[in-house]
Amino acid sequence: MVKENKVEVRFSSIGENVALARMVLSAFLMPCDLTREILDEIKIALSEAVTNSIIHAYGEDANQTVILRMCLNDDILTLEIEDNGVGIPDIKKALEPEYSTMAEHMGLGFIFMKTFMDELEVVSEVGKGTKVILRRQLTEEKAISEVG
Ligand SMILES: Nc1ncnc2c1ncn2[C@@H]1O[C@H](COP(=O)(O)OP(=O)(O)OP(=O)(O)O)[C@@H](O)[C@H]1O
Ligand SMILES: [Mg+2]
Repeated sequence: MVKENKVEVRFSSIGENVALARMVLSAFLMPCDLTREILDEIKIALSEAVTNSIIHAYGEDANQTVILRMCLNDDILTLEIEDNGVGIPDIKKALEPEYSTMAEHMGLGFIFMKTFMDELEVVSEVGKGTKVILRRQLTEEKAISEVG
């Protein structure tokens, strides 16, 4: 596995770029040889965070920019999704299942991120923007056998 790698991508806040972010992530993780299942889980988590920036932070304003940072350090993957949008007034509430500020949404994005990643951190300031940090160890099997 690659020992350390860092990539940063900036893209316009449009729905089409969710697919772009997923593809960039797949390409970034190619050397890791992950199972389809693990890769799919990580891609879902990323899609949820990117979608939130596009929809909630920017209201799909194509003039705004979402930043995706991907870092691989040994077997720890860190993803940062950052926007300069409206920010989240109450992070604790936003993280609750089925809480959404948009009527037609299920309020499950953060739950997917939590479920599929080992760590989820949200840093946000109203009027300034939001940074979501997602972390996952990519070699769980190894981690378990080392503990045992
Ligand atoms: N980047 C962001 N900027 C501003 N608000 C956000 C951001 N991300 C999340 N939120 C707020 O947190 C709430 C919960 O987010 P979550 O992704 O869990 O649910 P949702 O996006 O509303 O619904 P779903 O993801 O199921 O479509 C959102 O409704 C929104 O108010
Ligand atoms: Mg969401």
